[in-house]
Order: sequence, then structure tokens, then C-alpha cells
Amino acid sequence: MTTGLRKGLTSYGDPGFSLFLRKALIKSMGYSDDALDRPIVGIANTASDFNPCHGNVPALIEAVKRGVMLSGALPLVFPTISLGEPFCHPTAMFLRNLMAMDTEEMIRAQPMDAVVLIGGCDKTLPAQVMAAVSVDLPAIVLPTGPMVAGHYRGEVLGACTDCRRFWAAHRAEHIDAGEIEQISGRLAPSTGTCGVMGTASTMACLMEGLGLALPMSASVPANQADRLRLGESTGRRAAQLAVDGAPKPSALITKASIRNAMVVLQAIGGSTNGLIHLTAIAGRAGIRLDLNEFNELGRRVPVLVNVKPSGAHYMEHFHYAGGMPALLRQVAPHLDLAASVVAGGTLRDTLACGEEVPGQDVIRPLDAPLASQGAMAVLYGNLAPDGAVIKQSAASPSLLRHTGRAVVFDSLQDLTKRIDDPNLDVRPDDILVLRNAGPKGAPGMPEAGYLPIPVKLARQGVKDMVRISDARMSGTAFGTIVLHVCPEAAVGGPLALVRTGDRIALDVEARRLDLLVDDAEIQSRLAAWKASPPDRELPLRGYAKLFEDSVLQANEGCDFDFLLGRKCP
Ligand code: FES
Repeated sequence: MTTGLRKGLTSYGDPGFSLFLRKALIKSMGYSDDALDRPIVGIANTASDFNPCHGNVPALIEAVKRGVMLSGALPLVFPTISLGEPFCHPTAMFLRNLMAMDTEEMIRAQPMDAVVLIGGCDKTLPAQVMAAVSVDLPAIVLPTGPMVAGHYRGEVLGACTDCRRFWAAHRAEHIDAGEIEQISGRLAPSTGTCGVMGTASTMACLMEGLGLALPMSASVPANQADRLRLGESTGRRAAQLAVDGAPKPSALITKASIRNAMVVLQAIGGSTNGLIHLTAIAGRAGIRLDLNEFNELGRRVPVLVNVKPSGAHYMEHFHYAGGMPALLRQVAPHLDLAASVVAGGTLRDTLACGEEVPGQDVIRPLDAPLASQGAMAVLYGNLAPDGAVIKQSAASPSLLRHTGRAVVFDSLQDLTKRIDDPNLDVRPDDILVLRNAGPKGAPGMPEAGYLPIPVKLARQGVKDMVRISDARMSGTAFGTIVLHVCPEAAVGGPLALVRTGDRIALDVEARRLDLLVDDAEIQSRLAAWKASPPDRELPLRGYAKLFEDSVLQANEGCDFDFLLGRKCP
């Protein structure tokens, strides 16, 4: 088998010359023949001044390189797109597939025998793993790690669950402009990903659950020495992967490991985004994630991790309580422990890692869970024929069964214009509906599903309302929020037909979401909708056109249709 620098020679029609030229040019950087004869570990560099969650990537790269070289291989670092969640317009999700394509093609094009994927901020790890699954080169994930918790007036806080909580208090005029500015300096006290169980932490936990990262990778704080030691260990392991040529992602991403990841997602109180990304990762492996199975697991696997937004603590506390190995020990009865892991061996070996921490309250046992059911429920009904998702663990229990009058916003622009209008006809028991904010509609399915409480109700003390949309929401958000309604309004899903004043019934226990309008009326509205094109400009060129033409719905992972694994039905 061709390895190292001899892999994937540039096509000049003369392989000998291709290798000669490649060596001649790389020698300009001072490499010896000995170094250039070694197996090569590529290291994906996602450092960017626009991505503060990756602020420690340069130090991690040095640690990984040390590990690779201590094991006798040659590390070569290469750049890829990096996506800092609050720095991407219209939303980082719009660019996830672009990052996946970039990463996939650069792994494929350049001569490497294994790859270390250093990612963290929400869309980066999903994009990198989607890429690795498609290339099927041995790969190991190194998350950047969560930031530590902050403190303000004796209160522990962190990005970004508390960002939302304090901002809501500011909107309700309980916190003034000076104080909210002061708080903004306390919410993110170190580099690393958001310090709660948001999308980044969810994806990092799923990496351990899928067996793609070393034990404890999800939780070691980004600014600690152990994070660098983890980088060195990851480099060492990557060198071995490069020599062995195994295990490849195809041996790790299987029906069993995807199911294990679904168990983890329910038990950690994970982000709703995690479900979309896991669906996309599975799709690259030709596996269709079964939402009914996910729902079924949600009834049996309770939330065990007492971390915000579902619980009370922060990711660093999850780490000190034993991290993912401790969680996996608790949910072991629901896992397939024979699933292979990148560290070598099986998930059963991971259970033995990490410490037992007596008296901790962050990782609960199955018989004393944080919530009796899993984090998420998938809802079906005439408003969501292909499903919608609610994070029930972060919702108000009193609203999980609720019938109310719809107050409809046609788009993000419409929402911005009218939500705080003092003349808006809205009551606390109404249901706020946002549409045309799905994968195609917005585009990119922004994290707009956390509709703000209309300011006139917020001032009255209203903290939660049922909100329904075809958008996503940040994993750090909370509330009784129904997301990912499929099909989305922009492609004629039933959400497009709702009118202000209609009644909608939400019943999470029954897994139902229904528009209480009779069928004949729905059909006549549908006929009228078809007659009028969606009120949005369609892109004519570039990546936006590719996105418009190819993006799949949320229940299919929002991947591009032409990127799914060949075996995917
Ligand atoms: Fe990057 Fe939260 S903004 S992880």
C-alpha cells in the first residue's frame, strides 16, 4: 500500500517526477529524508481570529505534533475553514456543509495516512466528522474543550445559557445597560467552547460516545494542562493509526455506535442541533437515523447530566464528576459496549477510564435522574408530518401540554419588526409561530427558534411561552420551544398555512403537534399557497445556489443530497 509522501501524487503524467518535485519543494522547509520517509499525520488547523472558541488551537497543535513525533511519525498541519458561531452570517449552519466539503477534499487531496481533527465550536466537529466519514481515512477527534465558568456578584455563570437569561432580564428592564455590559465581560472567562451543554459540548460528548475521541476529550477545560496532555495522547494515537491504517471511520460509525450516540444525546440533556448533526454523520455512512428509535430511547433513557440548560452546573463540573466515562457507566445498560473505539478496543474499555467521584451531583444514576425521560421528544401531527423536535428537559413542565391561539410571524424580518410592537395582539397563553426560517427559507436554518418573549409580556413577568418554528435554536437555550418543523414552510410544509388566530395543540407526552383546523380548510389554504411563490429572493450563483438546490430537510440532517453515503436509501 502506498503511504506517506508517496500517496496521491499530483498528476503530471510522470509519477517519478511527481514524487521528486514534491520532495524537492517540501525540503525547502528543512525536512530531512528520514522525516519525509515517515508515516504522515495530517492535523486540521481551525484556528481563526473569528473563532474565539478555538483560541487554544495553536497550543493544541503543538501538543499533537509532540505526540506524533514521540511516536515516530511526521505531523503536517493544514488549514481548513473555521466557523465561529456568532461570527457567521446568516448562520454558521449555512456554512457547515461547505466546511465539510473543504475538510473532506483537503484530507483526500493531500498525502496523509491519518488525520487529527481539532474542532469545537458548534458546527466544526460535525463538519469534520462528516468529512472524515466520507473520506474513510483513519481519523481521531480532539475537541478544543469547554471554557471554565465565570462569576458575577457571587453567582456562577457561563456562556451561553446565562447570556440568554441575563439578556431576557435586560429586555424586561430588570438589568440596565451598564450592568449588562459588565456581565458580558464575565460570561466567557477563558478560551474554549461554551461552558454549558450547548451544541459544542453535546457534539464533544457524542464524539466520545461514537468512539471517535479519547476518553475525557469532551470535558477537560480548554485552558488546563490536561487538555494539552490530551493533545499529546491524541497525537500518539494518530501516529499509530497512520501505521496501522485502522480503525477507519467506517469501522467506528455503525448502526450500533449511532444508537449509542442517541442514548448519550438523551442522557446528557443534549442540544437539539446534535440530532441534526448526528443524522448528517450517519447519512455520510449510509445509515438512516431512525427518529422513532430516538423517540423510543427518549422514553427509556432519562436525563442524567445536571448541567445547564437542563440542569444547574457547568461543563467543568461535569469533568470533575468523571466526564463521559462516568456517564457511560451509568447508561451502560442501554449501550452496545462492543462498539469499537478509536483508542483501540471497545466502548467497554472506555467505561474503565475516569474516576469515581463520591458525593457528586452532576452525573446522576439511572434510579435518581434529573428528568424521568430523555432530553428530546420528536413530535408528529398535521403540523409536522415529517417530525418536529422539542427539548423537553429544558421546557416548562406546565406548557408541555398546551392548546393556544397562534400568533404568526412570516419571517425573521417580520419577527424583528413586530415582536416588540406595543400594539401586537398577544397574550401569555398564545403560541408564537415563526416560519420561513428553515434550511431553505432563511436560508441555513438559523438559531432563531428561541423567539424572544414580546417585551410587553416580559415586563409583566412572562418567562416562557410555547414557540414553534422551522428554525433551530442554540443548544444553550431553554424554554417550551418546538423546532425543526418538517417539511419547512418554504417548501410548502403545513407551517406555511397557519394563520394568526388558529388554534394549535401541543402534547409532548403523546408526541403530537396539531393545527386544529379541519382538513378541507387546510387543503384550500394549501391550494392558495401553491399559487403564490414564497416571498424570498432565490440565489442565482455560488455556494448560496448550491445550498438552495441541494440542502435536505432537518429530519435528513440538512446535508446536501449529493453528499450522502452511497448506501443511504
Ligand atoms: Fe463557540 Fe458557543 S459560540 S461554542
